[in-house]
Amino acid sequence: MGQNLLRSARTPYLRVVPQRETAEVQNLPPAHKSRDQKVVLEELESLIGLEKVKDLIYEIYAFAEVQKKREKAGLSAEKVVLHMIFKGNPGTGKTTIARILGRLLYNAGILEKGHVVEVERADLVGEYIGHTAQRTREQIKKAQGGILFIDEAYSLSRGGEKDFGKECIDCIVKAMEDHAKETVFILAGYPAEMEEFLRTNPGLRSRFPIHLEFPDYTVGELTQIAELMLRKREYRLSEDAKSLLEDIIREKKAREIVPSNARMVRNLIEKAIRRQAVRLIRDGAFTKQDLMTITARELLEASIYLV
Ligand SMILES: Nc1ncnc2c1ncn2[C@@H]1O[C@H](COP(=O)(O)OP(=O)(O)O)[C@@H](O)[C@H]1O
Ligand SMILES: [Mg+2]
Repeated sequence: MGQNLLRSARTPYLRVVPQRETAEVQNLPPAHKSRDQKVVLEELESLIGLEKVKDLIYEIYAFAEVQKKREKAGLSAEKVVLHMIFKGNPGTGKTTIARILGRLLYNAGILEKGHVVEVERADLVGEYIGHTAQRTREQIKKAQGGILFIDEAYSLSRGGEKDFGKECIDCIVKAMEDHAKETVFILAGYPAEMEEFLRTNPGLRSRFPIHLEFPDYTVGELTQIAELMLRKREYRLSEDAKSLLEDIIREKKAREIVPSNARMVRNLIEKAIRRQAVRLIRDGAFTKQDLMTITARELLEASIYLV
């Protein structure tokens, strides 16, 4: 199916929301929920690129809402198993999407809390026998009613047979069955490593019905992300800075060994913001315009100083 068709499957919802809200208010639902759902969907839409990821998240959201309505209507409802694998390089939006998903599922009434507990190997794997199961169970408990997001999950099976990572995986697999209804498990990491991880743990793949791939952003997308980050922080680029931004990002991206995507952009923007602050203090220039404007010089400084 064409990208545009899929996109149009999502966007009409945003336009019909106000009517839907009025209808629901008459039925006295928790009004804040539907309004908040609209905010979350808009937040999803506002992310740059990620079209396929957005489509899938929207599909999950629609599925969850419909299952709930079917249940209400006395129809059989599919068991909602939403455990997921996220494959992508750093800075491709995995954590951001997990947080949005948590809120969507909370608003849809699927998750009781919708919070995200983000952990990695060091939070789960202990140093002696029994320690790992205890640690892992603790984190699972914290995530109950929300999402347990395990970053760089492939590292759990890196240590070989004797490693406690295996114990952790077993513990997670068991919890995924036992708590499938109240907690969503997301395993995330670099694409190649996650593929290898699933290949060497053959029992795992079928337990994760949903796989999302987060591609590296293009230079154009990274530039748009930079502009969005500046807008959100209420900064703007001077005219000469505007024409430099894309070139700086292109050059930075070309120099990276492992792409760090939006993280690189965020670091660049935050460094430029600090360089601007130094200039303002030095010059004692504090009009509203001054406080907002980042110049080409500051972008260049940020790109040079950024390691
Ligand atoms: N598509 C996007 N549009 C706007 N901002 C983004 C996008 N993807 C990532 N970001 C921003 O980039 C930063 C890193 O994203 P994050 O979700 O932490 O990536 P990951 O978890 O894959 O490393 C965050 O500040 C996030 O808000
Ligand atoms: Mg992350």
